[in-house]
Amino acid sequence: MQNNHQHKRFSLEGAESIIEKINTSVNFDYKLYRQDIQGSMAHATMLEKQGIITKTDYQKIKEGLKSILKEIDEGTFTFSHKLEDIHMNIEARLFELIGTAAGRLHTARSRNDQVASDFRLWIKDKAEKIGEDLKTLINCLLKRAEEHAASFMPGFTHLQIAQPITFGHHLMAYVEMFGRDLSRMHDAIDRMDESPLGAAALAGTSFPINRFMTANLLGFREPTRNSIDSVSDRDFAVEFLANIAIAAMHLSRLSEEIILWSTSQFNFISLSDAFSTGSSIMPQKKNPDAAELIRAKTGRINGSLIALLTVMKGLPLAYSKDMQEDKEAVFDSVNTLELSLIAMIGMITDLTVNLTRMKQATEAGYSTATDLADWLVRILNLPFREAHRITCQIVALAEKKKCTLAQLSLSDMQSIYPNITNNNIFHFLSVKNSVESRQSYGGTAPQEVFRQIDYWKKRIANNKKA
Ligand code: ARG
Repeated sequence: MQNNHQHKRFSLEGAESIIEKINTSVNFDYKLYRQDIQGSMAHATMLEKQGIITKTDYQKIKEGLKSILKEIDEGTFTFSHKLEDIHMNIEARLFELIGTAAGRLHTARSRNDQVASDFRLWIKDKAEKIGEDLKTLINCLLKRAEEHAASFMPGFTHLQIAQPITFGHHLMAYVEMFGRDLSRMHDAIDRMDESPLGAAALAGTSFPINRFMTANLLGFREPTRNSIDSVSDRDFAVEFLANIAIAAMHLSRLSEEIILWSTSQFNFISLSDAFSTGSSIMPQKKNPDAAELIRAKTGRINGSLIALLTVMKGLPLAYSKDMQEDKEAVFDSVNTLELSLIAMIGMITDLTVNLTRMKQATEAGYSTATDLADWLVRILNLPFREAHRITCQIVALAEKKKCTLAQLSLSDMQSIYPNITNNNIFHFLSVKNSVESRQSYGGTAPQEVFRQIDYWKKRIANNKKA
């Protein structure tokens, strides 16, 4: 869907009254013009089929709406603040174009069911689009994960080196998150797939309308069941914003990691020049601006969610003008998330991985201490707690000697626990063997990571709904 806001024209009106200023929404709800015209077309078609308006009036309305769509698409339509919102702007123009027949379009309809329908259509469309962007991000993470399914990296808890993992395994954790975001978008679409059109102001109408017909024409699964709820409900927008907020939270966490990894202290990755900027004063610096901004933009997205929840929480049934405040929150969040997704896709595609440095960091952090403890359990049949205590002492010894666990000698080990006599303990202290041994379902062993990658490749490719 395109919206030509770059060509949008507003009529030059003199000083607006305060009520016009506070009441007007056309400067943002013009974005709904395509859905508004689509809704009017469906409504007019139904009115004619049901014998509520004449064929002649229907033809005029249809032609008029088509011209208006063209005018707005081409940027020749003049929007007026005096006419409040997109619905009134289009209706007023229809009058100019076709005369009194225009007045028949609003039979058995109210702006209350009209705006609820338009907004659902708009959000459904955007939720699909965001779903597509999420799939692109997932595919790009899958590609990098496949490349790095066996690239060693320290895994962290409390941001302290914990156990060796692979970079691919780490990226696959994000695939799971974005996969849930994708399915949340589809769940929301499924729930909002009901047409409010025909609920009229709040109580339905005495005209013999056919709501199933308009629902069908607009691509909704079915009409909503209760006319009061139809015009009062904005759950679909709140749920959509909540889903956006969760996805933004995931993007922010990934951004935070990218920022850490690209510091000279970590030095695990380098960002491409396209996604970083130089400092204006410190020549050595390469700042991860894109990642920082994705992290920061989560703030406004969360703000929009809270804003709409707050608007809705005290509203009596049915429609109140408060609900006009639903739109900017949603529009801004959609723009923000789409931009963040595109930037993240670019950053992930372009980043280069410093394998040597990541492996060094893994080895330096006593990350195989758990493997040592596991060995004591498995080979010497010690209770895990006892093995843990002994391992702590061995790590302390290595720290004192300023060496890695693998660099200790067998007699060093024996000085802590004399029953360690088997040289094969050292086999388990290498990062490679540690990673390869974690073959439990969902674990970090490369073969497990490949299995996860395979699962997601199939799920994304085969199931449109993922
Ligand atoms: N611009 C309004 C909105 O976005 C349209 C509905 C107006 N309804 C009314 N009863 N004044 O909510």
